[in-house]
Amino acid sequence: MQKLCSLEDLENRQSKGFTLNGDALFVIRQERTVYAYRNSCPHLGIPLEWLADKFLDADSELIQCSTHGALFTIDDGVCVSGPCSGQSLSMIDVDIRNDEVWVLL
Ligand code: FES
Repeated sequence: MQKLCSLEDLENRQSKGFTLNGDALFVIRQERTVYAYRNSCPHLGIPLEWLADKFLDADSELIQCSTHGALFTIDDGVCVSGPCSGQSLSMIDVDIRNDEVWVLL
């Protein structure tokens, strides 16, 4: 696993993008749980965000692809609306150790 950041670098209920060893990913923090996904929409294989670190819908309830508006659940990355409905984002394993966020790429 590789260290991504400190837990305190992530705002609660917000998303943030990273590039680690050339791999684009993004994370969402919910309290002390962090979800991580590869930054590639299953529809066209392109990054999800238009604005830096903005991966969530207006209510911060779902992950949103900015290109065609696909919506994904935060906890398992399944597309629940949009052109790739039923497909999933590629989840990355996360471990929180001593308030640090580690990922397995
Ligand atoms: S590229 Fe994401 S919904 Fe089309």
